[in-house]
Amino acid sequence: MKLGGSLLTDKNKPFSIRKNVVKSAVQQIIDANEKLILIHGGGSFGHPLAKKYSLSNGINASIPNQILGLTETHQSMNKFNSYLINQFLEKKYPALSIQASSIFIKDSQNISTQSINVIETALDLDILPILYGDIILDSKGSFSIISGDQIIVELCKKIKNYNISKVIFAIEKDGLFIKERENDKLNIKLATELKFEDLDKIEIADLESKIDVTGGIKGKINKIKQICQQNIPVQIINGLKDEFILKALKNQNIISTKIK
Ligand code: IPE
Repeated sequence: MKLGGSLLTDKNKPFSIRKNVVKSAVQQIIDANEKLILIHGGGSFGHPLAKKYSLSNGINASIPNQILGLTETHQSMNKFNSYLINQFLEKKYPALSIQASSIFIKDSQNISTQSINVIETALDLDILPILYGDIILDSKGSFSIISGDQIIVELCKKIKNYNISKVIFAIEKDGLFIKERENDKLNIKLATELKFEDLDKIEIADLESKIDVTGGIKGKINKIKQICQQNIPVQIINGLKDEFILKALKNQNIISTKIK
């Protein structure tokens, strides 16, 4: 499950946690008590800093203090992640922070890891591994940002000891909204069931205007396709609605977008 950064933070206000939303999400995940990997986004702890230092485009000598900004961005995400981990530990639920920047490395295009067994072993031990959008180093002497969505794609491709039954994205909307033209009228409606091949054909209504260094809705659609290509269904749910996180984890019926 990924908890989006826009859900957990006020993305337009730097370093602002929506504490009630986090508290409720944590409680629902604890109540569900499923074997799960939790991923969270950056929101206001990641995107403003990554944008300030133009981290997504890699090393650039003309940006002052860029390398320092890279490490500061990681630390900012680390701080946010610690807040989340503490919420679980205070409720006596064993959650373990795993840093994407320590286990993944890039080689221009491809992302690789030698540490999938760390995550699998944590799951064996009934530990909830928590990863988050982070910086990623590039062995060609550069770096960029690895989004929570990209981490999920990597996990779906590389986890072998477990069957991933589904990926849930909890965001602050009910799912994917699509544009439909009826005669001359434009309707925007929630897509409840989609096949991943349809994603290329439909027109997504992008209701998102917040800053996003990792590709916004287009980037997300691309990642969803890659997940579905591994035969793993995707569900997009509204993380603000009553118990939707719990219900999605328990496979109960809710209004959402399901893609397979
Ligand atoms: C971004 O992660 C991480 C950084 C900018 C360091 P995501 O792209 O997964 O974050 P959200 O969910 O869009 O906020």
